[in-house]
Amino acid sequence: MNANGSGAIRGFRDAIDAGLPCNVKSSDEKAVAMMANLSLFDLTGKKAIVTGAGCGLGRGIAAALANAGAEVVILDIADAAVDTAAELTASGLAVHAVKGNLLDRADLERSFHESVRVLGGLDILVNNAGMHDRRACLDLPVESWDKVLELNITAVYQLCRLAGAIMVKQGSGKIISMASMLSFLGGYNASAYAVSKAGVAQLTKSLSNEWAGYGVQVNAIAPGYMATEMNTDLLHDDVRLPQVNARIPAGRWGRPDDLAGVSVFLASAASDYVSGAIVPVDGGYLAR
Ligand SMILES: NC(=O)c1ccc[n+]([C@@H]2O[C@H](COP(=O)([O-])OP(=O)(O)OC[C@H]3O[C@@H](n4cnc5c(N)ncnc54)[C@H](O)[C@@H]3O)[C@@H](O)[C@H]2O)c1
Repeated sequence: MNANGSGAIRGFRDAIDAGLPCNVKSSDEKAVAMMANLSLFDLTGKKAIVTGAGCGLGRGIAAALANAGAEVVILDIADAAVDTAAELTASGLAVHAVKGNLLDRADLERSFHESVRVLGGLDILVNNAGMHDRRACLDLPVESWDKVLELNITAVYQLCRLAGAIMVKQGSGKIISMASMLSFLGGYNASAYAVSKAGVAQLTKSLSNEWAGYGVQVNAIAPGYMATEMNTDLLHDDVRLPQVNARIPAGRWGRPDDLAGVSVFLASAASDYVSGAIVPVDGGYLAR
């Protein structure tokens, strides 16, 4: 059956045959019962790759998925991948490390396939690895622009293609990419980064359109200001830091564990009808 084929049409007919609106009450009750059932968020038996999870936000996401029952590969260029996997494994979670450089297209393919081999399959891909080069346009050479776009969007595209080939064939899968508030805003001294993250948002919607009909949900998380190594310079900027702080309605920066709930939700059956969404997790910043 293809994405727009008879199965999808049967799905629409089933809904009509269910007899709305007279059955509204019973289907509401069913929905409430399902929502109250936390097994919707259970990831037991699921196989997940989280890129760039040696530290920062990715580490928080890898720990959250593993705590929900998934077996996780941390795919990262840094030795921290091995240390983090060992620490999480020591606390009883199923976490492996695969070293790989996502700026190198051949190594990206090799490390992706090695990760799938280690896991014995793939249900969840989290495209988290990313970089920022916080320089004004006139100080940012095109080679640096290329590097940011290569890691933040081209590598994401290639990983989506590799994962999508597996997931479309098996008729299920979850792809979660890291967007940003700069998917929506221009930012400051952030031209390459903002373009790459706008690209992540558009790629998410585009692939959702292609794959939702095959049971593969493609979504993104747009974090606000999160206290990680990526923001070290900003956290020490006496001028900009107070300006940023004053704009966050929650009154604090985010932490890696602030992404735990949303990442488990988007990786689980609880989000099976959520597709093409860019979910802000920003302490209310975008709404300001
Ligand atoms: N920190 C924030 O405020 C913030 C806000 C919005 C979006 N994001 C996004 O969230 C993601 C994670 O951000 P973070 O703050 O945790 O970053 P971070 O710099 O703390 O961590 C990035 C991770 O990616 C890995 N990595 C870097 N280059 C790589 C490569 N070539 N190949 C493989 N792995 C590589 C690093 O080793 C590291 O583990 C990024 O995509 C970032 O753009 C972060």
